[in-house]
Amino acid sequence: MNKITTIKTEEREIRSLLDALYQNYGYDFRQYSEAHIKRRIRNRMTLSGLESISAVQQKAEQDKTFTSLLLQDLSITVTEMFRDSNFFKALREKVIPILKTYSFIKIWHAGCSTGEEAYSMAILLKEEGLFDRTTIYATDFNQHALDRAKEGFFSNSLIKDYTRNYQSAAGKESFSNYYTADHKMAIMNQALRDKIVWANHNLVTDSVFAEVNLILCRNVLIYFNKELQNKVHRLFFDSLGNGGILCLGAKESLRFCDVSGEYTEFEKKQKIYKKKY
Ligand SMILES: C[S@@+](CC[C@H](N)C(=O)[O-])C[C@H]1O[C@@H](n2cnc3c(N)ncnc32)[C@H](O)[C@@H]1O
Repeated sequence: MNKITTIKTEEREIRSLLDALYQNYGYDFRQYSEAHIKRRIRNRMTLSGLESISAVQQKAEQDKTFTSLLLQDLSITVTEMFRDSNFFKALREKVIPILKTYSFIKIWHAGCSTGEEAYSMAILLKEEGLFDRTTIYATDFNQHALDRAKEGFFSNSLIKDYTRNYQSAAGKESFSNYYTADHKMAIMNQALRDKIVWANHNLVTDSVFAEVNLILCRNVLIYFNKELQNKVHRLFFDSLGNGGILCLGAKESLRFCDVSGEYTEFEKKQKIYKKKY
């Protein structure tokens, strides 16, 4: 087979695998970025000693444990407490003053992974006196990640990095006030764990989650193709009240999507947008 034929066969096999995952399990990866999907499927193929994408599909149809691994592969869950500390600093300095003008606040973390971003938000709200009048919803379609998020554990080896991020994000106390650690793990304080409402929600197939004042969807849309990003931006637009704030990841933007004209660039560098009135 020449190179072009091989690529075409591979693309056809990937499409068939993604169709099967959608038909059999309801997970729709058909509009994720091609590069991401190819990389992750090839990786699983190698790890499992399989020789072709169609062998991956065959295995996925027969073996539930394998399918579960494959679904985990397609969802990248890398995250950190106070990830991109300058973003959290901007949130504290520019967005919190707006939230302070509201009697009740609703925040949605879409694609929350194992919860670090939502816990960072809960800490920020505590320090800014907004904890009691805020509801934080944190959603993801990866149930394993959500189960870990609810438990609020993280490895002890991460404490140093997380403390540094917290301090660069203009944290007002000692980061150690927010968790209890033993020789292996640290666990977030009960009050922080109780604060967050965790829910399974798929941005591709589920509808509006709630009307909210602030949405954070960071480092999620980067894995979607342009059409899917456009669709999800419509969902966010419909979920935000007027004057609501949308926060994206460092490599993401509203450019080229249908609703981009409905927002102002509130903090351009930090990818913070404000829905127009
Ligand atoms: C790289 S993590 C980002 C976590 C966090 N927002 C951050 O920036 O640190 C991406 C998360 O998006 C989630 N995700 C991917 N596709 C999704 C979808 N269709 N619906 C909901 N969550 C999705 C993944 O499961 C993963 O937990």
